Amino acid sequence: MHGIVPRYHQLKAILHGQVRSGAWQPGDLIPSERELSDRYGVSRMTARQSVTELVHAGVLYRRQGKGTYVAWPRIAQGLTNLTGFTEDMRARGMEPGTRVLGQRMWATSETEAVRLQIRPGQRVCEVRRLRLADNEPLAVERSLISFFGCEQLLEADLSHQSLYALLETAYGLVPCEAEQEIEAGLADDDHARTLGVAVDDPVLLLRRTTFAERGQPIEYAESVYRGDKYTLHARLARAPAAR
Ligand code: GLP
Repeated sequence: MHGIVPRYHQLKAILHGQVRSGAWQPGDLIPSERELSDRYGVSRMTARQSVTELVHAGVLYRRQGKGTYVAWPRIAQGLTNLTGFTEDMRARGMEPGTRVLGQRMWATSETEAVRLQIRPGQRVCEVRRLRLADNEPLAVERSLISFFGCEQLLEADLSHQSLYALLETAYGLVPCEAEQEIEAGLADDDHARTLGVAVDDPVLLLRRTTFAERGQPIEYAESVYRGDKYTLHARLARAPAAR
């Protein structure tokens, strides 16, 4: 290695490349710092620094007394832009997938009705979907969709199209704004089975009400995301008064 780019930086790029190209797979044990320093002709210190930076970046992780491994990639969702699952995955270069678990008309409970600003018991279309990223289960979502004529959605095949796109193109309901709550939780039996994780594994619970142009609530969704795969990302700006 040569040039003006610091050596640890060059090695870091090489190691990151191994992960990106798939030569090193999630869960693989990577060579020790001693092996890396021999292989790339750098000092142990340099090898350590490169590895440490990739650990901090979440690309690798260390296990006490065992060595360093390739981490599973996390999928980050921005907290300020309203995107649907399909857009979200495509933006990350991943292939979104959906398995429809159920689709029926549903009489809303009190709390669901409050979220959708309708009368309790009013019927909405309920869609339960398993959402996949590159064929791997990532989330289970239960959506309650509410608009005049929403029973037509029972005919829609949501395994091959995005709900947000369908609402927009077929019904002129453009998802414009949403309110979202996020909570930590543990996978119950049902979610564990569907998501392919163990019971009591950590999950993220998201509740989102999506509004169309004139503030009309069109969807209330409860989603359970795998805690080991999903990161929520926010960019924060300090309020002018506090500067
Ligand atoms: C996110 C939201 C859901 C919404 C979905 C739409 O996952 N949590 O409330 O239904 O996006 O995604 P798509 O347009 O891919 O169906």
